[in-house]
Amino acid sequence: MIKSIISKIKKCTCGDKAENNKIVCGCFKVTQQDLENAIKNGANSFEEVQAITKVGTGCGRCVNGNKDLVNKLLLDKKINENQIVCGCFKVTVQDLANAIKNGANSFEEVQAITKVGTGCGNCIESNKELVAQLLAR
Ligand code: FES
Ligand code: FES
Repeated sequence: MIKSIISKIKKCTCGDKAENNKIVCGCFKVTQQDLENAIKNGANSFEEVQAITKVGTGCGRCVNGNKDLVNKLLLDKKINENQIVCGCFKVTVQDLANAIKNGANSFEEVQAITKVGTGCGNCIESNKELVAQLLAR
């Protein structure tokens, strides 16, 4: 009851409703929509989504599946917003995706095309992960 009132207030604007209302953590009755809302409100990692929604903090059985789901949702958001992921060279997610589309097959090859991570170097680890996610898509 309370959940349905909350979800009405939050209003779903993305994706398939039935899919979004699916419970992804039985212990706390967390739905995919709850995860999406947490990300929409600024959560930027599984741990931050977890702090907001409590997902995976009960029996722990759902942690792996929900980590994958949150990473996928975060990646979708980065792609949709075409976020800048390397401030030094204003490299966007789309630039990384285009490099891969044009044949780059590793972080080093993406780096050679886009220059991502070749400035201050602060973004290397996060972009290595991002490129690995994009290559796996
Ligand atoms: S089902 Fe998610 S913590 Fe138990
Ligand atoms: S932010 Fe990417 S190299 Fe500096």
